Amino acid sequence: MSFEPKLLGFLCNWCSYAGADLAGVSRIQYPPNMRVIRVMCSGRIDPKFIVQALELGIDGVYVMGCHIGDCHYLEGNYEAVKKYEMTREFLKLVGLDNRIRLDWVSASEGVRFGEVVSKFVNDIKELGPSPLSGDSPDKDLINKVRAIRLAAGSNRMRALVGRERKITEEDNVYGEKYPLEKYKEIMSQAIIEEYERHRILIALEDESKSVKSLASELSVDPSIILEHILTLKGRAQVDFQEIIKNTPIYMRRE
Ligand code: FES
Repeated sequence: MSFEPKLLGFLCNWCSYAGADLAGVSRIQYPPNMRVIRVMCSGRIDPKFIVQALELGIDGVYVMGCHIGDCHYLEGNYEAVKKYEMTREFLKLVGLDNRIRLDWVSASEGVRFGEVVSKFVNDIKELGPSPLSGDSPDKDLINKVRAIRLAAGSNRMRALVGRERKITEEDNVYGEKYPLEKYKEIMSQAIIEEYERHRILIALEDESKSVKSLASELSVDPSIILEHILTLKGRAQVDFQEIIKNTPIYMRRE
């Protein structure tokens, strides 16, 4: 039996959803694989929504909004681009980045809506089913994707992605812009750190552990794990529990 992907589309109300509607009333033929969630603006699409869909076994997620410059809330789609780019960076860590896509479809582009959806369906068919779909999904990968969802929704990542345009596109009080390249470097570093920290929090859910055992479980250098533990202690998310055979054991606090 041929593989029929299950896709989810987040469509902005004013352009892409209207484009999908036009495709429907114009009787344009395209594969019926995509379920649609209508949001008022593509800027509303939280990275967590996309990651959670993948976590639940969806084979691909499409984000669609008005063309750049046409957003009905002026700049919502500029924000959508930043959030989408961050989400892709996170998903690259687990090889799921090619299962999401961003596109602009206007209310008059019914034909184009059918075309881009057909292309996405074909591309995902080529990729095959998501490793998180089916009856026995990869448990380790589920935990990794869960860590990504939590990390993407963390205060640090929200602050970084939410301020990127202001910091890199607008002059500061000295009339300078912060270089985009440098900002991207900070983002990339933060993505890895928050991903690893949330993996630690997940690993400590059922059982308290030492730095060494966390390091071997997560395949991360023990010195980096220790740094993360200290940060998580500072955030009151992890605490020292006890010493067993000269080894400190850490527990999750929440
Ligand atoms: S209203 Fe369509 S992207 Fe903002």
